[in-house]
Amino acid sequence: MVTVRAPATSANLGSGFDVFGVALDRPADVVRVRQASETTIDVTGAGSQFIPEDPADNTVGAVAEALDAPAHIEIDKGVRPASGLGSSAASAAAAAVALNELYDRGLTRKELVPIAAEGEAVVSGDAHDDNVAPAILGGFTIATPDGIAKVDADISLVTCLPDIVVSTRDAREVVPDGARVADMVETVGNAATLTTGMHRSDPELVGRGMEDSVVTPARAELIDGYAEVRQAAFDAGATGVTISGAGPSVIAACYETDRRVIASAMVDAFDERGVEARVYQTEIGEGATFH
Ligand code: HSE
Repeated sequence: MVTVRAPATSANLGSGFDVFGVALDRPADVVRVRQASETTIDVTGAGSQFIPEDPADNTVGAVAEALDAPAHIEIDKGVRPASGLGSSAASAAAAAVALNELYDRGLTRKELVPIAAEGEAVVSGDAHDDNVAPAILGGFTIATPDGIAKVDADISLVTCLPDIVVSTRDAREVVPDGARVADMVETVGNAATLTTGMHRSDPELVGRGMEDSVVTPARAELIDGYAEVRQAAFDAGATGVTISGAGPSVIAACYETDRRVIASAMVDAFDERGVEARVYQTEIGEGATFH
């Protein structure tokens, strides 16, 4: 038996749509695998009632097939589905790392990223590396079709998950078809600023680089209270605030000393809109680990 913990992730970080991602120190999924003649799946934990256990419909079923590694797979969900915190990516990443070990396939962590992404595509409809890359490798990752770059950054973060559901499929439908050159110029500047901030572990640069005027404003319409929560986080000292992944979670970058007060300000702001929310005081963390 092999047990692997893979973390929640936040992919996009505003300016890095479908490219940037970070591993979050918490929450996480834990996946246990045992060799079997055919793949079976048991799911427990956060939102497990919404996750199909049929291997044909589950993110880890595709991973087992891609690795030719049939197994009994137990998934203990710490990352709620449809949260914007890379829920399916966490399961897919943990399964890829665990099955690679169980069957001694000898693939490197980077080679496991596209395999886990295929698994994620089962639920999101599209294969993106931006969540699975940090879930497997940890840190801040830049995932492009030509490869993955990783930076070990030390940045404090708050993620606030409201009790509303936004599916990745719906959130992708509102993404505009194109962007004006002026917006593109701004986005390139912000993405470069964010990347420099990650290299320096500088929350000011990371926060400034999270601004995005192309995808985020369209998606903000799907999140009741987004503008108020964003403002509350800034008022409490956040250096940057944006939608986490496809939403509905909202993510703030900050100094560690401000993290607690930002967390309660975000929860209170959702509460004032009549929306319950749970909050994680977290930081950029490591990728999948054996337990
Ligand atoms: N970057 C994706 C999105 C998240 O924002 O739609 C899933 O990979």
